Amino acid sequence: MPTDLAVDIERIGEDIPLLEAIRTTRAIRRLKPDPVPRALIRKVCEAGTFAPSGGNRQPWVFVAVTESERRAFIAERYRRVFHEYIAPAVEAAQAPDFPERKRRNIRAAMHLADTLHTVPVHLVVAGWTRRGQQQTQGLFPAIQNILLACRAVGLGASLTTVHTAVQREIDDYLNLSEETPSCALIPIGWPIGKYGTPPRRSVDECLYFERFSPEAN
Ligand SMILES: Cc1cc2nc3c(=O)[nH]c(=O)nc-3n(C[C@H](O)[C@H](O)[C@H](O)COP(=O)(O)O)c2cc1C
Repeated sequence: MPTDLAVDIERIGEDIPLLEAIRTTRAIRRLKPDPVPRALIRKVCEAGTFAPSGGNRQPWVFVAVTESERRAFIAERYRRVFHEYIAPAVEAAQAPDFPERKRRNIRAAMHLADTLHTVPVHLVVAGWTRRGQQQTQGLFPAIQNILLACRAVGLGASLTTVHTAVQREIDDYLNLSEETPSCALIPIGWPIGKYGTPPRRSVDECLYFERFSPEAN
């Protein structure tokens, strides 16, 4: 953690060019257990509040879980569903021709699941339902803003949703009602590794002008 952080919350992260931050934001799943100042959690959540939403309803609720007992509760449930979810991919990764890049991604996701209780902040993003439906589309722009803000201030973070398989159990624990269900869990902490450009298809493989014409690519 930067030593001058306590005095510099307002300034930290303000100078990184936007497009550079976008290009170097990726899932950072190896995180130190060191605590994150509340003011910094507030700062990244504030970035979330600048997201667009339908009718500008701003349906988001952020619950930052930092107490170790509460994190252990969430981590235990996350781990349980994650290992079930990832099992087919782990099986597929045994094949010798399985891409190493994907293997690394699986390993990192497993590492996160196995160490989640040590990650200092479990930021749960929830949102109001509308006409009885969960409005996840109204939350993902805010979630992406938070991920970008974490990148800007030097925090590591990743978007996870696997907990939704046991959502009610976790939501009840966090006092989130059926009218405000959780949508994502963002584990946040100081990164062990470095940021970097994530592997992505070239824009030239997915951009078309005027009409979709895959045969032209
Ligand atoms: C909707 C959504 C749900 C995701 N859920 C999980 C999850 O439950 N656990 C996890 O480890 N990663 C999850 N991810 C992260 C993706 O696996 C990650 O973004 C992808 O591997 C790309 O990583 P990179 O940006 O480092 O290249 C999710 C991503 C999205 C967009």
